[in-house]
Amino acid sequence: MKCTVRPSRSVTSQWRYLVSSTAILAFAVGTDALAASDSMRDARCFAKCYRQIAAEQPKCYSGCLNERWINKPGECPVGDLDSVASLDRPCLEQCSSDDFCHAEYKCCRHSCGITCQPPVGLADHRPGLPDVPKVIAVSDYGKALMVEWSAPSPDTSAGHVTYLVQERHHVGVAYVPERMTPWAMVTRTDKIREQFRQLHLPGRWFQFRVAAVNENGTSGYSSPSEQFFVNIGPHVDPPGPPQDLTVSSLKWTNKEYQQCVLSWKPPAESVLPVRKYKVFISVRDGPHVYHKRNVVPADISRFTIKKLNSNSEYFLQVQAISEFGRKRFAGQKASTTLKTKGKKILNSKQITGLKIVVIGSPDKRNLINARLSWRPVTLALKKFHYTLSWSSKDCNDESKPLRVRTPFPLHLMDPNTKKIINSIELVIF
Ligand SMILES: *[C@@H]1O[C@H](CO)[C@@H](O)[C@H](O)[C@H]1NC(C)=O
Repeated sequence: MKCTVRPSRSVTSQWRYLVSSTAILAFAVGTDALAASDSMRDARCFAKCYRQIAAEQPKCYSGCLNERWINKPGECPVGDLDSVASLDRPCLEQCSSDDFCHAEYKCCRHSCGITCQPPVGLADHRPGLPDVPKVIAVSDYGKALMVEWSAPSPDTSAGHVTYLVQERHHVGVAYVPERMTPWAMVTRTDKIREQFRQLHLPGRWFQFRVAAVNENGTSGYSSPSEQFFVNIGPHVDPPGPPQDLTVSSLKWTNKEYQQCVLSWKPPAESVLPVRKYKVFISVRDGPHVYHKRNVVPADISRFTIKKLNSNSEYFLQVQAISEFGRKRFAGQKASTTLKTKGKKILNSKQITGLKIVVIGSPDKRNLINARLSWRPVTLALKKFHYTLSWSSKDCNDESKPLRVRTPFPLHLMDPNTKKIINSIELVIF
């Protein structure tokens, strides 16, 4: 009969707290064997309580998780810590007993502080601990990866043994050890083979390793399996469309232009990891449609669109691109539209008090200077133009009046005093 142990809610949350505090400390040492939660301690307690009757299991399990796990199997490494490695390692006071260290790590004192270290001296057939397993086979079962490993030799009386399975992988045509991800926990199981549907990911090289755990702990993880490639097949689906495409923070950057932030979430589905995003911007300006294209790295899912024209409708699209070798797979585009703000135009009715203050006599070039004034517009917007237009008549030919309408923008903000100038000099000819 297979029995499962369900820890009560309170135990779990208390446990998480313990785990996270040690995980942060352990992270500073920079070792890859550390995961966010302590599956090793979990597995040990599972093995310890396995033979209890069902009613006793939850109590046994929570009791085990809460007890201090001191005297973890194995010895602290000596020598190497004191000599070579201390240069690139801060001298930490990281732990006070094995209990503070993650997984099978031990609290070890050396010339440069006290830190959590992987134990040594856990050779096979150490009394009280199960043997180190060996990964026998990794195979492709069509929709899942099957991993098999060896059970401990039957003569060991290791009590109940449970297994922790870890994987690491990378995407690519060829296997490159340096590109492998850190080891990640896949599962704990009592069986000696498991199928992993979630790992049947085409185009990836996988390695697995397994640790056998009993009530006393573990002798450590097996050596990594041979790398196994999950075939990519003749057809690869491109990534799905990016999700939740959103325009935000639309604002004026100066008198002419606006800007906004376009953000999105990665596609829900992508056989291969997304390498980059393409952002397409198009806008109609009269009879023309302008297009712009930008590339954003995969780890960034936002893009600031600058120099947006006012009062325009933009069509925005984002597309995820994945790659395999030299092949590119362009996904479906997600799209949205953006309407920019119109410029605030004051019509002439809003300008009051317009009058000609002085008109001079014609000068040598027959030009007349005039001074106009009007009331300043007391709006909240501080920076704006006045547009002044006027018409003139040719005095010699009244039947054919020459009307010149010359609107021209004026910066009527005095750059020195920052005060709005509400009178200008006008040259009439
Ligand atoms: C665990 O270790 C103790 C002390 O070394 C030993 O007596 C015991 O048999 C071990 N448990 C198993 C299941 O081997």
